[in-house]
Amino acid sequence: MSRPEFEGWMHAHSARIERWLAERLPGVDAIPGRLHEAMRYAALGGGKRMRPLLAYAAGAVTGAGSDALDVVAGAVELIHAYSLVHDDLPCMDDDVLRRGRPTCHVEFGEATALLAGDALQSVAFELLARQRVCADPQQQLELLALLAEASGANGMAGGQAFDLASVQAELSLPELESMHQRKTGALIRAAVLMGAACGSGHDAPTRAALDHFAKAAGLAFQVIDDVLDSEADTATLGKTAGKDAADGKPTYVSLLGLREARAMAAELHGRAVAALAPLGERAQALRDLASFIVERRH
Ligand code: IPE
Ligand code: IPE
Ligand code: MG
Ligand code: MG
Ligand code: MG
Repeated sequence: MSRPEFEGWMHAHSARIERWLAERLPGVDAIPGRLHEAMRYAALGGGKRMRPLLAYAAGAVTGAGSDALDVVAGAVELIHAYSLVHDDLPCMDDDVLRRGRPTCHVEFGEATALLAGDALQSVAFELLARQRVCADPQQQLELLALLAEASGANGMAGGQAFDLASVQAELSLPELESMHQRKTGALIRAAVLMGAACGSGHDAPTRAALDHFAKAAGLAFQVIDDVLDSEADTATLGKTAGKDAADGKPTYVSLLGLREARAMAAELHGRAVAALAPLGERAQALRDLASFIVERRH
């Protein structure tokens, strides 16, 4: 796509998932209103919507329908939103700024933020369980399992545990890669594979190509997150810059330095795009997203 076309595509799909989530999250007038308010605060009105965009783009590869893609895109984004609320808590990264606003616990208190994260996770699984996204119900169960695995101890939550246990530690490059693959890569991979699984053109070679793509793109995403934490400013990021170094977190920047970390992201970008070669034109949105992941400024 040309740059304006891609920007238009991103804008349209971000707006679409924003609307979809706004219609499905519980309203602030229903009890318990304060919890619902915190859930909506954490999930709506911000963020790059990278995981939904990846799900829509992967769905374009396999000819998936938009209604099914809304469900998987929304479910993955809700898990992501929950992970951010918990990531920012004082017992974790203790951050006060997220998406240019006070973090959920600063705005609503720790207990409500904790529960909002829990409840966002439940809504994600409820939506994915209730709405038909795959013709074959067994396939849909596979999607639920995929999302659970990507979110749990072998995925995001496990990666977060690894992250917290590694403060002030010196990890080897393979250890760091494994931590990043879990805490960030797993959910990005789930977004891609779930989006693709909603379409009929979902054969084994396509799935393998998308899996390679997603692993490289997911790792690149966190490498650039580390780079931006060190390189960008708080106003641009919408979250506190320099936090990783201040907290003694092992990152690609602390291990390799900024230049090497950027080089690593560029190499991963190359791998991601190469993996898409067999998929032709249908994978163009995924190619554009891979470039966006490494070129982004926040
Ligand atoms: C930040 O994710 C946390 C990571 C997993 C790296 P994003 O950079 O996707 O955050 P938003 O959704 O755009 O705010
Ligand atoms: C968080 O990684 C990954 C999650 C699972 C939320 P970071 O702690 O680096 O994310 P930011 O930089 O706070 O967004
Ligand atoms: Mg963290
Ligand atoms: Mg953090
Ligand atoms: Mg970070």
